[in-house]
Amino acid sequence: MIEDKKIFEKYNDFFKGKKYNITTFGCQMNEHDSERISFLLEKLGYTKTDDRSKADFILFNTCLVRENAELKLYGQIGSLKKIKQEHPDKIISVSGCMMQTTDARKIIEEKYKNVDIVFGTKNINKLPKLILEYLETGKRVFDVSTEYELNDFVEYNNKNNFQAYVNIMRGCDNFCSYCIVPYARGREESRRPSDIIEECNSLVERGFKEITLLGQNVNSYGNKSKFNASFPELLDKIANINGLERLRFISSHPKDLTKDLIDVMKKNNNICKSFHLPLQSGSDKVLNEMNRHYTSEKYLELVKMLRNSMPDISITTDIIVGYPTETEEDFLQTLEICKKVEFDSAFTFEYSPRPGTRASKLKSLEKEIVQDRFERLLNVLYPIFNKKNKEYLGKTVQVLLEEKSKNDSEMLSGRTDTNKLVHVKAPISKIGEIVNVKIKKHTSFTLEGDMVD
Ligand code: 5AD
Ligand code: SF4
Repeated sequence: MIEDKKIFEKYNDFFKGKKYNITTFGCQMNEHDSERISFLLEKLGYTKTDDRSKADFILFNTCLVRENAELKLYGQIGSLKKIKQEHPDKIISVSGCMMQTTDARKIIEEKYKNVDIVFGTKNINKLPKLILEYLETGKRVFDVSTEYELNDFVEYNNKNNFQAYVNIMRGCDNFCSYCIVPYARGREESRRPSDIIEECNSLVERGFKEITLLGQNVNSYGNKSKFNASFPELLDKIANINGLERLRFISSHPKDLTKDLIDVMKKNNNICKSFHLPLQSGSDKVLNEMNRHYTSEKYLELVKMLRNSMPDISITTDIIVGYPTETEEDFLQTLEICKKVEFDSAFTFEYSPRPGTRASKLKSLEKEIVQDRFERLLNVLYPIFNKKNKEYLGKTVQVLLEEKSKNDSEMLSGRTDTNKLVHVKAPISKIGEIVNVKIKKHTSFTLEGDMVD
């Protein structure tokens, strides 16, 4: 391990003018980890480039939740083999959830010899040392140690200067039968409330308008810790920070969603009225086998409680189709509950067996059955999304303008507090501002409108 200050000094000028490129797979937690990594790289002297072919340090921050993200990664690193041969001085690095498993590390070690540095989710802080170790020894570095404490103060970059992620916990103890996260990210640990609040205060002082609190299961925040704090209490305190305009959080588990949390959301205007509540399946039998600890009836009650308290709240979800024991009857129950809830939007996934999980030992359903159910699910969901978006026509909503619209250079896009994506004609100078927009068009996935006073 590189400890010597002299070695850091030796490389003082080495990184100047050098560029880095990060490809992030997976969830917001990974996006935030990439923000930490980019901060560390910039501290060394690297600058960012969006063009991977121009980068001197190429990093892939990986995801393990479904198999296709894994396959994509191998495809992308494989395609860099020639570049590494032609430019041996380029550094290729892989981090993230995949690297937490011995199997994936072994594949990288044996089949992708063009990868120079591998690190994990719990030693991100160590990256500068690992880079220097690689430069000093010329040998590949594989280090997934766990010495970084959750409460260590880590600075990071933000995607812009008005929206920020704040980690409140890491890991997961739920062991849903299909999910690899508890194996990859480890046991649940919560950060100290005072550290989180200090970080949020500092962001607001620096002019950030929107904070998104991150955790695999934010509703169980503090459950296992020595400090006396629950998620609703923490959320309430952060919402009370003077000047914070928008507060969001992800993700919630239905089994831990309480009335207290709903009350805190209702009470605070700056807590965004959108709720991501992963359903996974509408069949009680499948939910039980998934180890989810709720029934479809309990889920519907939670939706009712949310909508009774906050009638305009948007509710989104995650659904897995084709769990190994899912019958046609079980699947029809998923369609049924989707129709009852009327989700604003949903992430839908075909079940993907993950090595080491309980469900991976079950025989998978035939591909055609799963694909057919997936299509039928979308055929039910899309008209519902459309109907929910149509309700916005003629209404004036507040939109935080985030960036130039991807499809139309004259337009900006942003989000309502209900997390709806809105396209609006506005000058670039308005990026970062919350403006009033009168909605005049909609699709199943987006809204469009004009700025009004
Ligand atoms: N197969 C398919 N989808 C999965 N998810 C998690 N594990 C799997 C898997 N093995 C989905 C769940 C979860 C979301 C983040 O990813 O719906 O809520
Ligand atoms: Fe995976 Fe379940 Fe934990 Fe979510 S709650 S990360 S689905 S184990």
